[in-house]
Amino acid sequence: MAECISIEREPKTAIAAALPLLAQGAAIAIPTETVYGLAADATNPQAITRIYETKGRPRFNPLICHMADLAMAERHARFDPLSRTLAERFWPGPLTLILPLQDGSPIHPLATAGLDTVGVRCPRGFAGQLIAAFGQPLAAPSANTSGRISPTSATHVEADLGDKIPLILDGGTAGVGVESTIVKVENGAVHLLRPGGLAAEEIEACLGLSLIRPEKAGAIIEAPGMLASHYAPDAPVRLNALEIHAGEAAILFGRDTPAGLDKAHFIRNLSPEGKLAEAAAALFQTMKEADASGAARIAFVPIPMQGLGEAINDRIERAAAPRA
Ligand code: TXA
Ligand code: MG
Repeated sequence: MAECISIEREPKTAIAAALPLLAQGAAIAIPTETVYGLAADATNPQAITRIYETKGRPRFNPLICHMADLAMAERHARFDPLSRTLAERFWPGPLTLILPLQDGSPIHPLATAGLDTVGVRCPRGFAGQLIAAFGQPLAAPSANTSGRISPTSATHVEADLGDKIPLILDGGTAGVGVESTIVKVENGAVHLLRPGGLAAEEIEACLGLSLIRPEKAGAIIEAPGMLASHYAPDAPVRLNALEIHAGEAAILFGRDTPAGLDKAHFIRNLSPEGKLAEAAAALFQTMKEADASGAARIAFVPIPMQGLGEAINDRIERAAAPRA
């Protein structure tokens, strides 16, 4: 059973417990500002294998390598000018850049699934300190069984992976609540591979250009992890519900009340005031509660597509996608 240490109450104990485990090639759960990560030494093939095994993750799906800062990232990835501008503006934060691997980088090919590119990001807060103390990048996917809802609290991680990993560092509830935004610069064009915790509009405003949003099918090829069915609760999911059916879990947003709400088995509002950042932070916890309520189906009311709404809609579309 995993040991659980609070980074707020015992930050030094947390780092002291984590470092030897990482050095031995263990995979441990760490808080980031987006979701909890299952972290291991990105340069150690046994450590990366442990991540894939613990999650039951397909090995063709590359991992994001987390860096302490831009200087560390530059030792492992080659930055073009646009990517550097984004890193300087938004790191540490919920932005992942796909970049060519730097010659001689010790990041193991298992972490990049053999690609000649690497996904890099600098997480905000405790994770950055841990990586700086460890001195090597940490490969970290979300700390959940592959295909399931990503964890936004240590409790979620414990329930899913608690008997498979030695340590969970508890940093409270993840503030952003959805995974990082992933972009890739190619020939001066910036492709949005995954909408996430940094709004696409903020990236566009920073660079003064529009992001290229590929067709969904193209996105699956570019970011192999973007399998259509993902974030799957046990209950089926219905989107853009204007009316709630008997026995459904109703997930609301803003002040509008859908017809038939009195027939709902369970009701939660992601943000009564209609704030998308608040809704993103609450999304995965709310989906887990709706699922655990025993509702026959989970029904989401329409959620606006701007700002973090793009990431929210992406995640709930995947939750609603036909299961493999
Ligand atoms: O917020 C986050 O990004 C969280 C926290 C833990 O940092 N991590 C996360 O990792 O969401 P994961 O493994 O669930 O998603 C990584 C995504 C996958 O869709 C993968 O295909 C894509 O990043 N990816 C990683 N390296 C890539 C590369 N070289 N080229 C294209 N896509 C890549
Ligand atoms: Mg994930």
